[in-house]
Amino acid sequence: MNKGLEITRGKTKALYESPEQPDVAVMQSTDNITAGDGARRNTIEGKGRLAAQTTARVFRLLNLCGFPTHYLSGGEDDDDNEILVRRCQMIPLEVVVRGVAAGSLVRRKGLQRGTLLVPRVLEFFLKDDANHDPLIEPEEIVQRGIAHPSEVAAMSEIARMVFEVLAHAWRRRDVLLIDLKIEFGRLANGENKGALVIADVVDNDAWRIWPQGREDLMLDKQMYRNLQDVTPEALDRVRMAYEQVAELVGSFPQMRSGMVAMLAEDAGRVENLQEIARQIQVYGLASGRHVASSALTPGYVMQLVQQLDASFARLVYVTLGPPSLAAMVNGITVNPVIDAGVQSAEFVAQAVAKTLAIDDTVLFGRVMLMQANARSAVLQADAQLNVPPPPPAPGTALA
Ligand code: C5P
Repeated sequence: MNKGLEITRGKTKALYESPEQPDVAVMQSTDNITAGDGARRNTIEGKGRLAAQTTARVFRLLNLCGFPTHYLSGGEDDDDNEILVRRCQMIPLEVVVRGVAAGSLVRRKGLQRGTLLVPRVLEFFLKDDANHDPLIEPEEIVQRGIAHPSEVAAMSEIARMVFEVLAHAWRRRDVLLIDLKIEFGRLANGENKGALVIADVVDNDAWRIWPQGREDLMLDKQMYRNLQDVTPEALDRVRMAYEQVAELVGSFPQMRSGMVAMLAEDAGRVENLQEIARQIQVYGLASGRHVASSALTPGYVMQLVQQLDASFARLVYVTLGPPSLAAMVNGITVNPVIDAGVQSAEFVAQAVAKTLAIDDTVLFGRVMLMQANARSAVLQADAQLNVPPPPPAPGTALA
């Protein structure tokens, strides 16, 4: 990639200006690996490329789900170890989410390593090498002017969702996500200037992952932290784990094709059917629509379902009609059937998306974000209701 002046350099990456694109920067991962605040340092040939690949694939997944991130493009094979990102002002915090007790949490709280954490534990650490990145409470983050209360709330909610999305992706590969660190920035330019985005990297240094839930099979940077002797053979084992992780993460951003077959009992329900189809499209899902009556054209219902079943591997039916239509379709197909019944179009679309999200992490993330948006709409509406009325204009007589 074409690079301009160096903007900044960290322990494992460097950031450059992008010529003629003031809103954009080039992030380059290096072959360095460090632990203990840089007390242990080595290089592993090819690690920069693997780190860039892993970050690019994770960020592509997050972008597809609809999360705000700084990632634009790059990081795949032809780009070597470089990624194009939107320029941000970084917030000097590490946001850690934990689903299973490990690492510093075990040391601080005396918990048994491997304990399942429900709800997830969320912690902020101040980025301050001289003081070994101390834990910092949300109140102090606000007091010290590091972030606004609304940003602290948004970082917490986004970090929790990112953890769940990545845990889902890993679970599908029979790997348990233990914990995760992400960082945030504020967009430096453009119409969304100041907006919070997930920034920095999410690579194999930023999480703990245990295949089959077994710590002894770990594939992440903890392998390097745990080394008694840093021998070339040991570093080679670490490199092989990083390779395996980059490969596994390769399919994270792939959406699995899914089809929604919608059957209405009569013409009177077509409008409702179209509204559900529009809501289904919000999740990026395709739908096929038909009118087929369990009472008047049962043979056609049978033929249609058999045809659809034979044509699509991942298929969900939505029926709009009397219970007999849902019962009939359900009796013919092995695929899931959702009876739209009296539910709203949004509810039915979400039920469809949730069904297909079981083995599609992009959809899983989209559902989580839709739910978060719906929650915040409720909170906003409540806050709006409770806004105190504006004070009367001077001179207005009080009733
Ligand atoms: O060490 P600790 O248990 O606090 O780490 C929690 C998570 O944050 C781990 O996944 C670790 O890899 C990650 N982390 C990180 N960068 C740091 C500290 C922790 O990516 N500086």
